[in-house]
Amino acid sequence: MNDCSTVSPSHTLRIDRCVCVQVTFAQMRVFADTHGAADVAQLRNAFGCAERCGLCEPYIQQMLGSRTVVFTSPLPPCSPQHGL
Ligand code: FES
Repeated sequence: MNDCSTVSPSHTLRIDRCVCVQVTFAQMRVFADTHGAADVAQLRNAFGCAERCGLCEPYIQQMLGSRTVVFTSPLPPCSPQHGL
C-alpha cells in the first residue's frame, strides 16, 4: 500500500527555487547581492520568477529579508493577484 503512512520520516520538505522557471533562491540571492536588487519586482524582471503561479513569491520576499535560501516549511501565499 502506498499512502502517507509509508513515507519515511526522513523525508523533509525542501523549498529552494521557483519551480516554474527553475531558478534557485540561492541564484536569486547572488543576483540580488551583485546588482543591489532589494525587491521581488527586480528579481521578477531578471528571472521571470513569481510571475506564473506565484507560489515562490513569499519565499523570495523572505529570502531578501533574511538571506535564507532553503525553506523547510510552507509559507502562506502573499499575492492575491495569482488567485491563491
Ligand atoms: S513557483 Fe515561482 S512562479 Fe510558480
